[in-house]
Amino acid sequence: MAIRKVGVVGCGLMGSGIAQTCAQSGYKTIVREVNQQLLDKGMARIYDAWNMLAGKGKITQGQVEEHRARLHGTLDLADFAECDLVIEAVIENMEEKVRLFPALDRILKPEALILSNTSSLNVTQMGAVTKRPDKVCGLHFFNPAPVMKLVEVVRTISTSEETIETVKQFAISLGKSPVIAKDTAGFIVNFLLIPYLLAAIRMLENGMATRDDIDTAMKLGCGYPMGPFTLLDYVGLDTTLWAAEAIYDEYKDPLYAPPPLLRRMVLSGIYGKKSGRGFYEYQ
Ligand code: 3HC
Repeated sequence: MAIRKVGVVGCGLMGSGIAQTCAQSGYKTIVREVNQQLLDKGMARIYDAWNMLAGKGKITQGQVEEHRARLHGTLDLADFAECDLVIEAVIENMEEKVRLFPALDRILKPEALILSNTSSLNVTQMGAVTKRPDKVCGLHFFNPAPVMKLVEVVRTISTSEETIETVKQFAISLGKSPVIAKDTAGFIVNFLLIPYLLAAIRMLENGMATRDDIDTAMKLGCGYPMGPFTLLDYVGLDTTLWAAEAIYDEYKDPLYAPPPLLRRMVLSGIYGKKSGRGFYEYQ
C-alpha cells in the first residue's frame, strides 16, 4: 500500500518530533492537538527545529518552505479522512487511547493503518476496539524523534504481515532503522532502559552517590551520551513513571516498581526539562 498522507494525533514532545520527521521526509502531514494553544506550541517547536537546521546550513531556506508547506495543524480529527496512515502520540493513558482508536476507525478509509507511538501500553487492546485490528501496530519513536535512528515496530497477535511490512518500509523512508518487537510491555528498549533509570533514582535516594557523579560515571565510564538523570529529565519524569507502571503492571517484577522519589516528583508537577525542573533546573 502506498503511503502519501500521514496523520499524527498529538503535537507534544513526541508528536511534534514525529510530525516534523514525516513532513521533512516528503509526506503530506497533518497533526492534531486538542486546543489552539497546544497546537501553536507544538508547531513552533517544529518551525524552530527547521530554522535551527537552516541556520546550521544543513537544509536550505527553500527546503524549510517546502517542509512547512507539507505540514498542517488542525483541531479536528475529521481532517484525517484522507490519511493513509495515522500515528497516535497522545498522553500515555489507556482510557484516552481506547477513546481515540474507535474514533479514528470511523473517520479513516478502510485500508488506512493506525499506529501507536506508545512506549509500553498494550497495543493489542488498542487494535481490539477497532474493526481493523490487522491494520493496527505500534511504531515507537525515541526522543528526540527527528534525530534518533531507531523505531520499534510492535506486532500484536492480530497485526497482519502486510501491515508490518508496510510499516517497516515507511520507517525506512523516514530514515529510521526498524526493529520488530512483540506486543509485551516495554517492547525492547524500555524493558532494558527503565530498570537502569529507576536504579539510578534508587542510588540517589539511598545516598550512594550524588546526581552529578552518577551522571558523570555513566557518561565517562560507559560512553553513554547522557547520564541517567539528564536522560530522565530529557525523556520526562511523567513519561518514565507511566512506562515503569505499565511494565510493572504486566510483570509485577520489582525492578520496574517506581521509586517513591519519582512518583512524588511527578505528583508535584516536576516533569523534567519540559516543565523547567526535574533532577536539574532549566531556564
Ligand atoms: N530535528 C533535526 N535535527 C535535530 C533536532 C531536530 N529537532 N534536534 C537536534 N538535531 C540535530 C542537531 O542539529 C545535531 O546535528 P549535528 O550533530 O549534525 O550538528 C544533532 O541532532 C545533535 O544535537 P545537539 O548537537 O543539539 O546535541 P548533542 O550532540 O548533545 O546530542 C542527543 C543530543 C542526540 C539528544 C544525545 O545527547 C543523545 O543521543 N542522548 C540520548 C537520547 C536517548 O537516549 N533517547 C532515547 C530516550 S528513551 C525514549 O525516548 C523512549 C521513551 O519511550 C521513554
